[in-house]
Amino acid sequence: MANLNPFRPGAGHMPPYLAGRSHEQDRFRELLQQNSITENLVLTGLRGVGKTVLLETFRPLARIDGWLWTGADMSESATITEDKLATRLITDISVMTSPLIQTHTSKHPIGFGGIETKESATMDYPTWHDLYERTPGLVVDKLRSVLVSLWSLLQGHVNGVVFAYDEAQILSDRAKDGQYPLSMLLELFQSIQRQGIPFMLVLTGLPTLFPKLVEARTYSERMFHVLFLSQLSSEESRKAVVNPTLVDGCPLQFSENSIASIVRMSGGYPYFIQFICKEVFDVWLSKLGSDESPAVPEEAIISKLDNDFFAARWDKATDRERELLITIAGLTNSDDEFTVSDIVARAKINLDRPFSPSQTNQMLGRLMEKGLIYKNRHGKYSFAVPLMSKFILRQLAKGPDLFS
Ligand SMILES: Nc1ncnc2c1ncn2[C@@H]1O[C@H](COP(=O)(O)OP(=O)(O)OP(=O)(O)O)[C@@H](O)[C@H]1O
Ligand SMILES: [Mg+2]
Repeated sequence: MANLNPFRPGAGHMPPYLAGRSHEQDRFRELLQQNSITENLVLTGLRGVGKTVLLETFRPLARIDGWLWTGADMSESATITEDKLATRLITDISVMTSPLIQTHTSKHPIGFGGIETKESATMDYPTWHDLYERTPGLVVDKLRSVLVSLWSLLQGHVNGVVFAYDEAQILSDRAKDGQYPLSMLLELFQSIQRQGIPFMLVLTGLPTLFPKLVEARTYSERMFHVLFLSQLSSEESRKAVVNPTLVDGCPLQFSENSIASIVRMSGGYPYFIQFICKEVFDVWLSKLGSDESPAVPEEAIISKLDNDFFAARWDKATDRERELLITIAGLTNSDDEFTVSDIVARAKINLDRPFSPSQTNQMLGRLMEKGLIYKNRHGKYSFAVPLMSKFILRQLAKGPDLFS
């Protein structure tokens, strides 16, 4: 019966109903109206807030406005060097231009209607890679030449190209290895855009992303418009819960009480909405036709959520880092922003072995790498995982096996 369940908890799974986010979509449409690109987009927010699926909805919007779209999920490669990033971009360009070959050989034009291709100019990976290799200079010069050629091929046929990269917070410059892939990407698009070529960058990732861009190249501050996705409003959350059950063939609808419970438990976070709804739906489905009136089994759902979602994140932290996380969870502002001195002050009260400011700083750095914490532009910290402090407090209440 599982296929009757419309809800889709899972990274990148398109929800049955995408609630809210029309402001973000409008903003993206506006960016597509730029004649020369001065603004690119960063789409950021906590884990599970809906970045990947929103990015996916941008793709048809771009197409409607005459833009091509290419890109990838950066998390698929472990470490990204300049060479790997170049391969990534050339691959993405090849995927996009491969219909040119089809136009030519199969006589079924897809996209690119009017482009003439010569026999020798099939625009596949070897062609682009060859051009890349033949261009002298640094990786950035070679890529620039590829992008300039790409535009001379597309100009007059499309309005521009969106280069969309998910999980872009993974990109890092590493001075000790002499590798600057992040700076290179920014430099590349900045110089291409300065030449009037309408290639727009759309980067998606955790809230560490934008500070990282600015750190790599200070002009990123002006180069990107930042959309920070928050939790859904209660009206939007309600729609995310209710609308999927309103379609033809859906065997049940939630009661008003249950809708209110789900919205409250989820805190408006999209992943939690899908997760809780899926569980509740299954329970209700199993009780269809029986006399029992179904409710929301809150405790069971929360403990499943703890196991399925939070535990994997918690497991990444060492014992000492967990002490730090517990200390943070005890702060009254733990759901919001907190500072090193907030943590140090609190640790003095609740720990036998408190933390010094420098230890705290270092540990926060490691927790940022592990994707549990992020630092905003004003130097304050927050949890990168929604409702994390509540999870930690639940674990504390359970007792001593917290560090197992
Ligand atoms: N606007 C929305 N309305 C309803 N459900 C949503 C919405 N946005 C996302 N979801 C659901 O939330 C879950 C998480 O979405 P998604 O994977 O896009 O988040 P994310 O921000 O990319 O997470 P991560 O940081 O882990 O990559 C998915 O199950 C998706 O179906
Ligand atoms: Mg994602």
